[in-house]
Amino acid sequence: MKNFVYNIPTKIFFGKGQIKKIGPEILKYGKKVLLVYGKGSIKSNGIYDKAIEILKEHGIEYFELGGVDPNPRTETVYKGAEICKKNRIDLILAMGGGSTIDCAKAVSLQSKYDGDFWKDFYIDGKKDLIKEVTPVASILTLAATGSEMNGSTVISNTAVNMKVGFNHPKLKPVFSVENPEYTYSVSKYQTCAGAIDIMSHLFEQYFSIENDGFLQNRMIEGLLKTIIHYAPIAIENPKDYEARANIMWTSSLALNELVTYGKISTDWATHQIEHQLSAVYDITHGIGLGILTPAWMKYVLSEENIHRFVDYGKNIWNLSGSDKEIAEKSIEKTKEFFTSLGCPSSLSEIDIDDSHFEEMAANAVFKGSVGSMKKLTKEDIVAIYKLAL
Ligand code: NZQ
Ligand code: ZN
Repeated sequence: MKNFVYNIPTKIFFGKGQIKKIGPEILKYGKKVLLVYGKGSIKSNGIYDKAIEILKEHGIEYFELGGVDPNPRTETVYKGAEICKKNRIDLILAMGGGSTIDCAKAVSLQSKYDGDFWKDFYIDGKKDLIKEVTPVASILTLAATGSEMNGSTVISNTAVNMKVGFNHPKLKPVFSVENPEYTYSVSKYQTCAGAIDIMSHLFEQYFSIENDGFLQNRMIEGLLKTIIHYAPIAIENPKDYEARANIMWTSSLALNELVTYGKISTDWATHQIEHQLSAVYDITHGIGLGILTPAWMKYVLSEENIHRFVDYGKNIWNLSGSDKEIAEKSIEKTKEFFTSLGCPSSLSEIDIDDSHFEEMAANAVFKGSVGSMKKLTKEDIVAIYKLAL
């Protein structure tokens, strides 16, 4: 096992009624918060009103950055940073899904920085320039990205048709509230997308070329099985507390680094390939992953990495047969499961044709080739998009 430093500092308040903890927790950082939220779901399901009531009770002054888009944009980040600078904000509280939390993290970076966050951090990756950030916290309302417990943020820049991720330990939320009841109002479509996103995070860490990570891979299998068991239940009955709770906690554990610590390598190619799809077509991240993942699996499967697919097929789908049969059947099973949740099975089904494949593939490899199961070049990525058509 590779050396690692365990660093998961986010305090999690999990379960019913835990929102009341935001009052005393925020006061540890100061009395002025910026609330960041999306297009209105928190207003219709009552979370906004509850949060405001608690802030008022604790004498906390609040400012607002609403209207964050799914696939959050650079313009919203600049707007939020201005509010922070002008009002000396002490903590940024994101209330929503991954887009809202990611936007809050980018605002946090820009709020303490005089240069341009997009160019210096997301494009050029100059992490050393980050001296200070505004602390971020979250009230999670959609189980999917793991942003509630990690240092990652993904932002879209529509001027250049690019969606780019950035990661820094200072961006890990200081605390997150996870009440599974808050996800009762998530649509079937977003529940399906969230489940696939969680599974994809697990695949990205499970499928790596080295034959190491025994412990990590067993943990990942447990998390995958949890989603495979509970996602259909949550889609069938959105108010099933156990289903929503299991999915929510899995979303955090899948991408808070826990299952990666000590592994020699991870893959992450499918995410790079998908991000460019949502940059150009503004589609839902998890849906893009659901369409691309089986195509990626088919494309990368080789003699060199078949052992990972055999593990996956046997331990997740209980398959038997020759290695080749297990590997191929495991890919079919994955696709069948995604479509059973309601995910479209091809790009053409969501009206995407091949007109941007070259541009998207070039953007996916702008920092160099991606993936570890197979190192993918621009040409490989065009081939994967074609397989998913
Ligand atoms: O905008 P509102 O009104 O809040 O509606 C949202 C949005 O339309 C809605 N929603 C959220 N909670 C709800 C709800 N509707 C009803 N009831 C609730 N309780 O759901 C829609 C999607 O929200 P969004 O935040 O976009 O979804 P998600 O959490 O899937 O986040 C996706 C974004 O995160 C990035 C993706 O690329 C994408 O931009 N990712 C972030 C990662 C990270 N930070 O670690 C990793 C991921 O791989 C991913 O790339
Ligand atoms: Zn993802």
